[in-house]
Amino acid sequence: MSDPRPIGVFDSGVGGLTVLSEIRDRLPYENTVYFGDTARVPYGIRDLAEVRWFAYEIIRYLITLDVKLVVIACNTATAAALKTAQRSFDVPIIGVIEPGARAAAIEANNRRVGVLATEATVRSRAYAKAVSHIDAGIRVTEQACPAFVPLIEQGITEGAELEAAAHTYLTPLVRGKVGAVILGCTHYPLISATINRILGPEVRLVSSAGQTALEVGRILSRQGYLRRPESREDEGKAMYVCSADPEEFAALGSRFMDENIDAVLPAEVLPRTRKPGKQASAGSRTDIPLIY
Ligand code: DGL
Repeated sequence: MSDPRPIGVFDSGVGGLTVLSEIRDRLPYENTVYFGDTARVPYGIRDLAEVRWFAYEIIRYLITLDVKLVVIACNTATAAALKTAQRSFDVPIIGVIEPGARAAAIEANNRRVGVLATEATVRSRAYAKAVSHIDAGIRVTEQACPAFVPLIEQGITEGAELEAAAHTYLTPLVRGKVGAVILGCTHYPLISATINRILGPEVRLVSSAGQTALEVGRILSRQGYLRRPESREDEGKAMYVCSADPEEFAALGSRFMDENIDAVLPAEVLPRTRKPGKQASAGSRTDIPLIY
């Protein structure tokens, strides 16, 4: 049995491409659809309830594209929405926080873990809880890094401005003598060279992208949802949708992915702001071509 339905992956912007890239590397025969909510990035400065609302809109939208599994490739949205979304939708949904916490608990041989994340993720304490669930003796130091995502979304992944912000954010972790640092925002692997340089080689950097991709493979295999290729060359197709300018997304995304992102579709379906008291209407758009 072969299941050609795509895997749905979403983030506020280009950060989730770091997760998508691992999924495509490890599961090359799977079709994927990536949604970047670039009209509403950054999520990390928002209220968790608002981010949950956005996440639900996007999940409903991805379901209209017949996805077989949803990956919330955004720590902020995972913190805000994963548990309730898993209860609310029939499709399997996975997030990026638990895989990262698991990896960090293994990597931190001195049982001191640092977390770099958005303000909303830090506020949620999702990482502290997830790490403590695995080993309650691990000391977790969390640091919000609000300047990072706006810089990365502008394509700035090195230079003086980034370096200055990184020094400010990393100093408490260096002082706390952490043994491992979780890149608790899917945008941050794109600036890992700078973070690594400041922390030094003895501190292990943990990104949840690889672990999340492994989990996707395990779930698809367990549920009998894997796509069986017709030949070795029959690789899965990738489709991209974003809520702001598709050309900008394609240009920035191509820089961050190994492959060229040439066709990005606009998703006008999503309103720019949350309308309190109204049911999200995402999912009404059906004219986006399916990729299988
Ligand atoms: N990349 C997302 C995360 O992992 C969100 C960043 C943002 O939009 O602030 O948290």
